[in-house]
Amino acid sequence: MSSFKTQDQADVTGKRVLVRADLNVPVKNGRVTDATRIERLVPTISDLLKRGAKVVVLSHFDRPKGRRVPEMSLRPIVPALAKALGHPVAFADDCVGASALTVVNALQTGEVALLENLRYHDGEEANDPVFARALAALGDIYVNDAFSAAHRAHASIEGLARVLPSYAGRQMQAELAALTAALVQPKKPVMAIVGGSKISTKLDVLNNLVAKVDVLVIGGAMANTFLNAQGIAVGKSLCERDLADTARGILDSARRNNCEIFLPTDVVVADGLTEGAATAVCAVSAVPADKLILDVGPATVLALKSRLTACRTLLWNGPLGAFEVKPFDAATVAIALHAAAQTRAGALVSVAGGGDTVAALNAAGVVGGLTYVSTAGGAFLEWMEGKVLPGVAALGG
Ligand code: 3PG
Repeated sequence: MSSFKTQDQADVTGKRVLVRADLNVPVKNGRVTDATRIERLVPTISDLLKRGAKVVVLSHFDRPKGRRVPEMSLRPIVPALAKALGHPVAFADDCVGASALTVVNALQTGEVALLENLRYHDGEEANDPVFARALAALGDIYVNDAFSAAHRAHASIEGLARVLPSYAGRQMQAELAALTAALVQPKKPVMAIVGGSKISTKLDVLNNLVAKVDVLVIGGAMANTFLNAQGIAVGKSLCERDLADTARGILDSARRNNCEIFLPTDVVVADGLTEGAATAVCAVSAVPADKLILDVGPATVLALKSRLTACRTLLWNGPLGAFEVKPFDAATVAIALHAAAQTRAGALVSVAGGGDTVAALNAAGVVGGLTYVSTAGGAFLEWMEGKVLPGVAALGG
């Protein structure tokens, strides 16, 4: 990451700066329902505007697969972007060609425009060099501020970075600094918490982490697969029985790497995943055959808190229980609050990310309390898998 150039190193005055953003935000009835990704773009764009740049924002939205799908237009994002920036935002109804050029040519220094969905063109996902050059014709400098899309080798992320002088934006820079602090050069001991429902979707993450962290906590229904692989009955719980050998392989690999695998010792069970369901707590060795495991239990939470207190770095992806339905959010909330308290006390560097994780931390009200919470989903996972992300590599990272 030290080989990156950041936007601070670019002379942007009077220049057209193409900013690759990720405006793939949740929208309902034409309104943005979670503006986090937009708000995090503000420091990047405001700095460029203040320094006299003409800012041209590029983004994808959803997956229109090379067609103009009206429901996937970026136009409804304009008011939310303008509001966040406190500045008017022009809009071009195509991201290349005459209409884009007209809007870009009309920009004065200190002004900003958003171009229509990049994925209306096949060339974007195909990383077509002709399409990348058509985008490059609209700018003098390229700033990538979309870590959450950096796992896609698309034209606006990979090809374009190789055509124009390229820089990391503020958000990209912060994200990479946080990820480096969490896994590349962490303060030890390091704990990773990996939760969620299926190990099949996180095999590469688990295999990479056992070689890197000191304690790997497995939560969510994924833990059931590991308990089952050790001959522990998990009742009617979600469990990937066909992956018992795979789970045992991960446990072996952890032993070889001196990585402690932390699994629940007690669990919260119920008849079904319904709000306010009657619950019971039992040892993992005593899960009734007709019940579902829906959260880790209080003894596990206590042990996990004390283990975390001894760690200096936490990397978190995925909830510990079925957090969307109360009371099965209890363990996730308790650990989130503890992680935030340790972070506030200066005792812990805490980095979290990936789809459900942000929702779970939001529900616990601790997003602001951790060192860094990434809004990236797939990119965060691929990074946890140890993969090189094309968008980061293209910046020289
Ligand atoms: C995301 O929301 O994770 C990014 O915008 C990437 O979207 P994609 O999975 O459609 O490439």
